[in-house]
Amino acid sequence: MKFYDDILGLIGNTPLVRINNITRQLKIKAPIYAKMESLNPGYSVKDRIGISMIDWAEREGVLKKGGTIIEATSGNTGIGLALVAAVRGYKCIFVLTEKASTEKVRYLKGLGADIVVCPAAAKPGTPDHYVSTAKRISEETPNSFYPDQYNHPENPAAHYRTTGPEIWNDTEGKITHFVASIGTGGTISGTSRYLKEMNPDIKIIGADPYGSIFKTYKESGRVPEATPYLVEGIGQNLPVGNADLGIIDEIINITDRESFDMARQLARKEGIFSGGSAGTIFAGALKVAKDLDENSLIVFIVCDTGEHYLSKFYSDEWMKEKLLLEPQRITGSLIAQTKNADAPQNLISVGPDDTVGEALEKMNQNGVTQIPVLEDHRSVGSIRESGLLAKLLADRDLIDAKVSDVMDKSFPVLDSDASLVEIKSKLQKNPAVLIEDFKRITAIITRSDVLDIQR
Ligand SMILES: Cc1ncc(COP(=O)(O)O)c(C=O)c1O
Repeated sequence: MKFYDDILGLIGNTPLVRINNITRQLKIKAPIYAKMESLNPGYSVKDRIGISMIDWAEREGVLKKGGTIIEATSGNTGIGLALVAAVRGYKCIFVLTEKASTEKVRYLKGLGADIVVCPAAAKPGTPDHYVSTAKRISEETPNSFYPDQYNHPENPAAHYRTTGPEIWNDTEGKITHFVASIGTGGTISGTSRYLKEMNPDIKIIGADPYGSIFKTYKESGRVPEATPYLVEGIGQNLPVGNADLGIIDEIINITDRESFDMARQLARKEGIFSGGSAGTIFAGALKVAKDLDENSLIVFIVCDTGEHYLSKFYSDEWMKEKLLLEPQRITGSLIAQTKNADAPQNLISVGPDDTVGEALEKMNQNGVTQIPVLEDHRSVGSIRESGLLAKLLADRDLIDAKVSDVMDKSFPVLDSDASLVEIKSKLQKNPAVLIEDFKRITAIITRSDVLDIQR
C-alpha cells in the first residue's frame, strides 16, 4: 500500500513549475520557476512553520496534551497550526485583523479553530492590536503555547531545513536569483541562509508592497510611517525579529495594482491560481528578469492559493470597488451590478400605455430624471424629465396623455458584455445607455454611474 500516516506527511517537497506564456510575451530570456507552496496540504508556505513550531513546543515540554495554541496570524500560519492541532488533538485560538479574507476565516473555523478579529487600523503595541491581543489571551489561558511566528527561531529554521535544500536540489544548484516576500521574514531569511551557504553569489530579492517599511528601513535604517495597502500577509509597519534584512540584496516595492494584476495573469496565462503575495513576488521577479539572460535562473515563491481570495481580488466587483480593475474587464453588466448604493438597484421603467403623470411620479419616487419605456422587455422609447417638463409647461393637459404620445427616442441598447470604451462613447451623445441580456433590457447606465468608477 502507498499512503501517508496523516495529512502532515504532505507538507513540503513542493514542485517547481516553469513560467512559459508570460515570459514569452514579455520577451524575458531568463527562466523563471514558481515554487508551488500553494500545493501544501493547508495550501500555503506556512504549513512548514506550523509543524516545526509545534514540534519544538512538544520537544521543549511547552505544549502538553490537551493544550491550546494561540497565535496572531494573517490566516495562513493559523491554517498550518490548525492542521497539526487537528491531527494531534490540540485546541486553537487565532487572532486575525479585519483584513483577513472571509475564506481564510471560514477555513480556520472549518479546521476547528476559534477566531478573534481585531481592527486592522490598531497600532502595534496598543491593546487592540492583533499581536497584543494574542499575547494577552495566551497569558490568560492555562496550558497554552503562543508560537510568536514573528520571533520564533523555528520559523526561519523550517525554511533553512526544507525550502532552501528543495530549491537547491531541484535546480541542481543552478539558481542565481531567489525572490520572496517579507511577512514574518521566515521564508526569505531561512531559505536564503541555506542558498547563500551553498553559493554566496545567489542574489536574494525581497518584493514588498508600497506602504510597508522594509525597503526604507533596509536602505536607510530609518523606520518610516507605514501606509495601508491591500495585499495580505506581507509587509510590516515595524521591524520584525525573523526578518533578516542583511541577507537580502535588494528590496523592490510593488503596488497593489501590480500585485493583483500579476496574480490574475498567473491564473489566466499559466493556470497557477495564487494569492496576492505571489503576485507581488512575481512582479518583483519580472522586474529582476528583464535585465538577465538565459544563464540566470530565477525561483519565486507562490505563497498560497487563490481560493483564499475568491471574494477579494479574484472578484471583479471587489476590484472595481477598489478602483483596481483593468479597464478592459469593466463591462456593462459589471457597472450595472455594482452601482453606487445611492442609485436605484433595480431597473425603473414605464410602459407606453402608462400616463405621463404616472411616469413623473415614478421618477420622483426613485429620484431619477430619465427612464426607459419598455414593452415586452424591449426598449421602445424614453422619458427625460427636462424635455417632458418643457412640454408640460406648454400644455398642462399632457399630464393625462399616454407615455407613447410624448416619449423621446430610446436610449442606445448595448449587450451586457459591452466594454467601458463602447459605453463611454455612447454616453458622449446620450444621457444613458440600456444593457440587454438575452434580449431583455436588464439595466440602465447613466453618465454618473460611469463617473463613479473613474474617481
Ligand atoms: C499570503 C502570504 N504570503 C506571504 C507571507 C510571508 O511569508 P513569511 O512570513 O515567511 O515572510 C505570508 C505570511 O503570513 C502570507 O500569509
